[in-house]
Amino acid sequence: MTSDDLWVYDESIRPAHPELTNQFLRAMGSLAATVTIAAAASPTAGRTGATATAVCSLSTEPPMMVVCLNRESSLAKMLRTTGWFSVNLLAAGQEGIATDFSGRTGLSGENRFGPQWTAHHSGTPVLTGAVATCICRIVNSMQQATHTVIVGEVHDVVMPDATAPRPLLYHDRRFTTLT
Ligand SMILES: Cc1cc2nc3c(=O)[nH]c(=O)nc-3n(C[C@H](O)[C@H](O)[C@H](O)COP(=O)(O)O)c2cc1C
Repeated sequence: MTSDDLWVYDESIRPAHPELTNQFLRAMGSLAATVTIAAAASPTAGRTGATATAVCSLSTEPPMMVVCLNRESSLAKMLRTTGWFSVNLLAAGQEGIATDFSGRTGLSGENRFGPQWTAHHSGTPVLTGAVATCICRIVNSMQQATHTVIVGEVHDVVMPDATAPRPLLYHDRRFTTLT
């Protein structure tokens, strides 16, 4: 890897600073984001998924996206051995699904998946009623602090034929939507 590939300014991680962490959490609460469910299926371990807002588009040619997952989450662990995942952009009204996949209702793994989930021909979970689902193959990952930054190349996009529903947003620690 050359210096053109990677810009490293400071590899040391500063010690935790509670006041700064709180200010950062308040600031990030203002970063309104579409709620997604990132999900994967393994032939041996079944399906798992996580509610995630740390998701963004990376490039269009080729289509690529980035997902940041806590490395201790069941999905991050599954993705170490499973090369494919989906990113399902939730629609307004799908708050219950977001809560189930955040672990707050006590459901884990396969039990988070209701009947509205189907399988893409790659085997990756697809949520019916979502605004859109991107099917991704992992092309890179990086461990950073508590999280894994996952780069996925988008191989397929599933969208409803009808007008796209309004997105489910997370802002100020609450679910909301566009009015
Ligand atoms: C609105 C919302 C957004 C979240 N965004 C992320 C995220 O981007 N990355 C992440 O690792 N966890 C995120 N979480 C927390 C994960 O959903 C949660 O830790 C995970 O589902 C736990 O998975 P596990 O019980 O399968 O290990 C978010 C939770 C909520 C409610």
